[in-house]
Amino acid sequence: MKNFYLTTPIYYVNAEPHIGHAYTTILADTMTRFQRLRGRLTRFQTGTDEHGDKIVEVAKKQGVSPRQYADRISRMFREIWPDLNIKPDFFIRTTDEGHMRLVQEILQRLYDKGDIYFSHYGGNYCVGCERFYLDRELKDGKCPDHQTVPVYIEEENYFFKMSLYQKALISHIETNPDFIRPERYRNEVLSFLKEPLEDLCISRPKSRLAWGIELPFDRRFVTYVWFDALMNYITGLDWPLGSAYCSFWSGPEADAQHLIAKDILKPHAIYWPTMLMAAGIPLYSHLNVHGYWKINDGKMSKSLGNVVKPLDLARIYGVDPFRYFLLREMAFGLDASFGEELLVERYNADLANDLGNLFSRVLNMLAQYRGGVVPDKPADRSLLSQDLANGRGQALAAYQEHMDRYEFHLALSSLWVFISGCNKYVVSSEPWALAKKQEAGEKLDAVLYDLVQALAWITVLLSPAMPQVALAMADQLGFNLDQAIGLDGHDLAAPGISLQKPEPLFPRVDSAKVQAKTAKAEEKARSKASGPAPEINIDEFSRLDLRLGKILEAAPVPGADKLLRLSLDLGEDKPRTVVSGIAQHYKPQDLPGLQVVVVANLKPVTLRGVESHGMILAATGPEGEVKIITLSDPLPPGSKVR
Ligand code: MSP
Repeated sequence: MKNFYLTTPIYYVNAEPHIGHAYTTILADTMTRFQRLRGRLTRFQTGTDEHGDKIVEVAKKQGVSPRQYADRISRMFREIWPDLNIKPDFFIRTTDEGHMRLVQEILQRLYDKGDIYFSHYGGNYCVGCERFYLDRELKDGKCPDHQTVPVYIEEENYFFKMSLYQKALISHIETNPDFIRPERYRNEVLSFLKEPLEDLCISRPKSRLAWGIELPFDRRFVTYVWFDALMNYITGLDWPLGSAYCSFWSGPEADAQHLIAKDILKPHAIYWPTMLMAAGIPLYSHLNVHGYWKINDGKMSKSLGNVVKPLDLARIYGVDPFRYFLLREMAFGLDASFGEELLVERYNADLANDLGNLFSRVLNMLAQYRGGVVPDKPADRSLLSQDLANGRGQALAAYQEHMDRYEFHLALSSLWVFISGCNKYVVSSEPWALAKKQEAGEKLDAVLYDLVQALAWITVLLSPAMPQVALAMADQLGFNLDQAIGLDGHDLAAPGISLQKPEPLFPRVDSAKVQAKTAKAEEKARSKASGPAPEINIDEFSRLDLRLGKILEAAPVPGADKLLRLSLDLGEDKPRTVVSGIAQHYKPQDLPGLQVVVVANLKPVTLRGVESHGMILAATGPEGEVKIITLSDPLPPGSKVR
């Protein structure tokens, strides 16, 4: 088996880590753990991309030097990974001395070879993308990614003869169908390559940008960020002579792979392989491309205020359930929607119900019927379940096949088919009935043996995705996960050992509470995004029947800590009941006698079992404080308010 090297993109330090970064890095961590479990030697690298215009811009805004700024954000990235149970083997920064020196060495090599030349260039430059755009690449004259009009820049620069390698690249992609996967991205690249490739501008004059790696052959220039960044994949292995470079990139045993999202397909599928060809360095074996997480079906962006901070959710639901959700929810290669409610749904269905219940049922039965002692493998093998054995074989084959293609969602779902099979077996084998029959003792042993061993095996297959949960499961099943090498581990829970009653793995989450919380957050985002309310005309306003009311009584609504039940005099035959969400701001005894404004023609609704006929008006202050709108001088109840 070859040595497995997997990289994530190195992330720009112009933004703090968010769920998109967390996703790629969790995938890479899961994949590396899976390959290691299989017995391969592995290396997993991530890091930060710290040069370029964007970083200079943000640093300036914050009043610090690019270096100080990059140090701070890079540290945030480095420190967040362990909190998400992610363990990279190497964290690279493009400001590392070693990286900068090696980038210069490669540049010099290409220059000496004649693959870099000096020329005059004018073009449309997008600062957001840090690259020049061809006219045909712009959409309505704007950068398709940033929707901004690029600036026309004319300058002298160095160029890489990328066009020289176009043919060789096409032929490589065609003869290696898995070089770029899934196929949709391979097709996208091949179709892009149908047009002639332009040479790549690889320098920026220092007069415009000084925050970069100097060209070794012309100190007036620094290297284009992408040229600098892509090389991290080999400088981190100590190219050209390091032993890691030989084991994981250039040697016969090496299997080097990249993991990225679709946004940076072109630099990875076109710039990088042609750069490697020019430098006489072997190409990576696979580029694995995933889709984008969308928030409420839209892009995640700072200005919309919908950037999901991974740790916030991991703190609430647990790191591993959060990892599980990301891995299970997104079909590799396609976009997916992120939402806390979706997470809770999966958590309750897959983790609390399917897996959590199986685990606690089996261990509880073992405690109840066998004092917690794991039974021996039955001498009569026909007592073992053939269905479970078959299900396990199928799950293992499917799991491996999908993992090999980065189809994490399908790998996990095949494991869940087996988990459901185990739950069904609990029902169909009826251990509780067997326990009542003396002559069924041997069969009960076999059932419990089968189920405990199935749980141990599930634990192993779960460990790449949920390492911490798997450790807790292995602990309760009495085996050492670190010693479980290979994927088919039989008899991991040693017969004869005594297990405790189970600790719950996944306490259920109240999904109604989460729904209420997200609805509130969405409402807040909506009102923030929509700014002032749209104009209405006088007719529209006059549809509101606003009246003066006098509070007669106020009382809490049982079981609702935010609601008060108000009885109001509106000058009608009898008092009206209105339920109002002011309980956290007013004491019931302080309210009677107040004159308030009531929306009298609001459709009745039932809140916590109390029918509410209207609404009283109140204002919300910047800290969320609530003040009822009251009248200072008395007027008869029922007076019209306009
Ligand atoms: N610095 C470059 C990469 C250089 S690699 C030699 C860069 N950095 S980035 O910070 O913008 O990271 C982009 C990557 O972050 C994506 O390719 C993907 O891995 C991850 N994601 C960022 N937002 C994402 C989503 N909304 N959804 C999924 N992944 C996303 O580009």
